[in-house]
Formats: sequence, structure tokens, C-alpha cells
Amino acid sequence: MEIKLYKKNSINAEIEVAADKSITHRAIMLASLASGRCVINKFLKSKDCYSTIEAFKKLGVKIIEIDDTLIVEGVGMDGLTQPSSYIDAGNSGTTVRLLSGIVAGNDIKVEIIGDESLSKRPMKRIIEPLTAMGAKIKAKEDNFLPMTIYGNSKLKPIVWESKIPSAQVKSCVLFAGMYAEGETIYKEPFLSRNHTENMLEYLKIPIIKKENIVAIKGKIKKIEPFEITIPNDPSSASYFIAMAVLIPNSKIIIKNVCINQTRMGFINTLIKMGAKINFLNPRILYNEPVADITAEYSRLKSIRISSEDIPSMIDEIPLLAVVATQCDGVSEIRGAVELRVKESDRIKTITTELQKLGAKIIEQSDGMIIMGNTKFITDTPQINLNSYKDHRIAMSLAVAASLCDSEVIIEDAECVDISFPNFWQIYNNL
Ligand code: S3P
Repeated sequence: MEIKLYKKNSINAEIEVAADKSITHRAIMLASLASGRCVINKFLKSKDCYSTIEAFKKLGVKIIEIDDTLIVEGVGMDGLTQPSSYIDAGNSGTTVRLLSGIVAGNDIKVEIIGDESLSKRPMKRIIEPLTAMGAKIKAKEDNFLPMTIYGNSKLKPIVWESKIPSAQVKSCVLFAGMYAEGETIYKEPFLSRNHTENMLEYLKIPIIKKENIVAIKGKIKKIEPFEITIPNDPSSASYFIAMAVLIPNSKIIIKNVCINQTRMGFINTLIKMGAKINFLNPRILYNEPVADITAEYSRLKSIRISSEDIPSMIDEIPLLAVVATQCDGVSEIRGAVELRVKESDRIKTITTELQKLGAKIIEQSDGMIIMGNTKFITDTPQINLNSYKDHRIAMSLAVAASLCDSEVIIEDAECVDISFPNFWQIYNNL
């Protein structure tokens, strides 16, 4: 599907964005392992989350959807059953990596496949710790899907120091750690998103968090059935916050957004650049901080981002590149080499597409150098941009399109379904 976009003159709205993707995945997984019926309210109805739902159905969990609530009949820590065929994780890195940690601790054999993009993404980062814990894993070239996990109910605990700050790897090891006989300790270079830790804590699973180290005591016997309401996704909110800040005479209110600091890098950076952003009605819901966010048109200065800043804005870097084209001065984003192994090579894809709009961006091996004060304009009245079927690239380009004098066509625009199914509806209504 192609979508045609035009310049926006000002936006003024109160909206709700999609529910949090990371928290939805984790809630479905832990509910599946609970001892009885769990209720997940306001879950994210996106393609990635359905990949997780279908995976756990194949592992023998009964999951029913009623409007925006999921009823999950948890089978207990050891209740997953051998699937009759492979599990398809689709486009979802979170599904494959977190699921692998759980499968590793059960006496089942599971083959996992994925779509073209997921089949190119590295799995060695989870194969190594899970193998050290005692699971057997066969993967294409020891790194890629298809991957078969031969689980083992007698996993050993490990002390693992990861070279990359990755919440997916950390969560994989913590989930496997629930099954290990003893204490598993995980250390990462910088703290990545900590929703797994927060949810385990909320469910009274014995874990200890200290800065960038987390420890979990296995062998967890039982997770009590629970009910949870998913807050809205700060990554999804970011596109509309950026639009309000960049489009003159704009103001937006976004309700019920998760404001966990491990996800706030983009918003904190905008504030540092001079954006007028406020948090209203802050509260804690299910061990996650939540607030309503307001943002309005602001004059921005340039910014320099380095590796320690990346984890808390890992999914917002393409959007930050768009913002940086509009501020005063030259911005630099470095230490972001992980972007090359996301749903697309996001350093390359965002650079290439923004250049088509006249942006002056120089690609670096680990980031970008971006000139500010750019007026998006093209030689032709209409320009086609490629989303590379990457949801975050499609939505970042939509923000750029809202500032462009020419008509912009975004190709494969339906890929927003991965994380934010009603993105275009909200965008067009603004
Ligand atoms: C996620 C972690 C991040 C992020 C992804 C979701 C998660 O990936 O990019 O969209 O839910 O744990 P990495 O942990 O691999 O950086």
C-alpha cells in the first residue's frame, strides 16, 4: 500500500497512541507461564504482538481476545507443550529472542522461523548465553533463523556480561534464569529498557536490580495469575511529539504514556534541544510510571548523541535524525551501530530517504552527521520514499513529509501494523 502525504500547517489535538509493544509481549509471555487465568487489558493489537500470541497458542496456551482484552489461560511454569510444527515469529525480534529464553528451560524442541528481515538479524547474542546454560541450539550459520532450540528443564545459572546493551538479550537470559537451579546474573554496558525486570518484580519473582546489573533466583515454581493494563507506547508517542515540536503553532496532548526512564531518551533529548514538553498527572501503574505528555512548537538547537545515550532511544534514532534536520546547527549521532541490525539497516535507510527530501546527512559507520535548518523540498512536485517495510522508517518519514512542500508518497506504508496499526488514521486526522 502507498500513502500520499502533504505538508501540515499546524496541529492541535488530544490523542491516545498505541499500547506499549514491549510490555504487551512480556505480559503475554508471563501470563502464559502463570498458574491460571490472567487478564491483559488494552493490549497492543499489532502484528508483532500477534506473533507472540500465535507462538504461545502453538505451545499449548489458550488465549482468547475480547475487544482490547486478552484472556490467557496460563499453563504454569512447566506446562508448555511440544508444538506440532515450527513457530513463525514474523518480523518480531522481541518474539524470537524472549521466547527462546522460555523454550530453553522446558523439555521441548521448537523450530523458529521469521520473515525476510528477521531472518537476517543476529541470534548468536542469545545462542551463546542459552548454550552456556545448557540448552542445545542449531541455527543457520550459527547465527540466523531458522533456529531449533532443544530445551532442557535442568538449566544451569550463569554470570553473563553482554557486550551490547540489549533488552531482548537481557530478557531472554532472565526468562531462562527463571528455570535455572540457582542465581543468574546479567550485566550490560548501559541499562537497556527494564520492563522485564519491572514486571517480574510486580509478579513477586525474586530479582535484584542495581544500575546495569540484574540477578534472578531460579527455580521459580509458580507465577500467581494476574491482571494488568498496558500503558501507551512512548516510542509511538514520539512521532506526534516530534510533529508538535516541529510544526509552527502546534500543540498536542498524548494521554497515558509509559514514561519509564529507560525509554525516555528521545523526549529527554528534545527537552535538552529546547523543546517545550511537560508531563501531567504522573502515576505508577503496574510498576511502570505513566503520565500525560504535552508538547508544543519550539525552536531547537543541535545535539550530540553518543553510545551511552543510545539504549534509551534505540527505536527513535531515525526520528531524531528527522528532528536534527530542522534544528539550528549541526548534530551528531554516534555509537548507534546496533541500528544496522534492526528491521532494516536504519542508519542507511533513513539517511538515503531523507537525502531524497534535500536533507544534508553524512552516514557514519556508527551513526550520522546531520546539518540543521533544512527546508524539505524536491525538484518534482511529488516524490516517492521507500519505507523498506520498516515501521519506524515509515513513521519517521511521515513526520518529515508533514514538513515538506512537495507531495510525498510512502511505499509499503502498511508496515506500521507492526507496532502502531492506527498510525495513519491518527496522522490523517490531525
Ligand atoms: C525491545 C528491545 C529493543 C528494541 C525493540 C524492542 C524489547 O531491541 O529495539 O524494538 O521489547 O525488548 P534490543 O534490545 O535488541 O536493542
